[in-house]
Amino acid sequence: MKEEIQKWWNRNPCQIINSNKQGIDFFEDVERVRYWMHPWIKNYFMGVKGKKILEVGCGIGTDLVNFVRYGGVATGIDMSDNSLELAEVNLKLNGFKAELILMDAENLEFKDNTFDIVYSYGVLHHTINTQKGIDEIHRVLNPKGTAIIMLYNKLSLVRLLHPNINKYEGRRPEEKEFCPLLKTYTSKEVKKMFSKFSSIKIDKRFVGNKLEGHIPDFIKKRIGWHIIIEAIK
Ligand SMILES: C[S@@+](CC[C@H](N)C(=O)[O-])C[C@H]1O[C@@H](n2cnc3c(N)ncnc32)[C@H](O)[C@@H]1O
Repeated sequence: MKEEIQKWWNRNPCQIINSNKQGIDFFEDVERVRYWMHPWIKNYFMGVKGKKILEVGCGIGTDLVNFVRYGGVATGIDMSDNSLELAEVNLKLNGFKAELILMDAENLEFKDNTFDIVYSYGVLHHTINTQKGIDEIHRVLNPKGTAIIMLYNKLSLVRLLHPNINKYEGRRPEEKEFCPLLKTYTSKEVKKMFSKFSSIKIDKRFVGNKLEGHIPDFIKKRIGWHIIIEAIK
């Protein structure tokens, strides 16, 4: 199954559908679309100067580039070598450096207590053993280090409007060109999964591109598609 998931992400690196351009124009388009759709992500780059950051599932490196831009010392891992190749080009075209490693989120090849921040946006709900991924993040974080993790929300408007969204869970990629594994979680489940952490703050965002501008924040905070967890080790 893991090999199938990996092949799928190699065929479909995240966000590449957001531009037809080439070179730096491509990465600039992708970045523009990402922070237009998810503007709160930019807050996570503040205060990272001099911090050791690990991005788990960095994809083509859009956020990774920004961690470096804001002064972080960043490492990106992903199971998709095609995504990492694009992340490398992205960094190079922007004139930045970061370590990029092909690695499984469920088996981080780093020592305990290595990073100040571990960031993972929209990744761990696509891996088989999500709990193992969270435990690995806890292990590699420094004492009092911060994890910022986004997982999909089970009790969300997106899932209400697209009830089949999890039907693809466990599907073989050759049956349909849709992500082969996609899981969703409730806040209650999330709290249990992060119980090793000393504190945890949960936020919810994003109701879909078309509705985003029309739904007030207090509703998004209840039924947003993205559960964003900020947890302290
Ligand atoms: C939806 S994309 C998100 C990429 C990036 N975080 C972003 O928001 O653009 C999911 C990424 O997670 C990676 N991924 C999924 N399972 C993984 C695992 N077990 N280990 C490492 N990377 C994984 C995929 O290869 C893919 O690049």
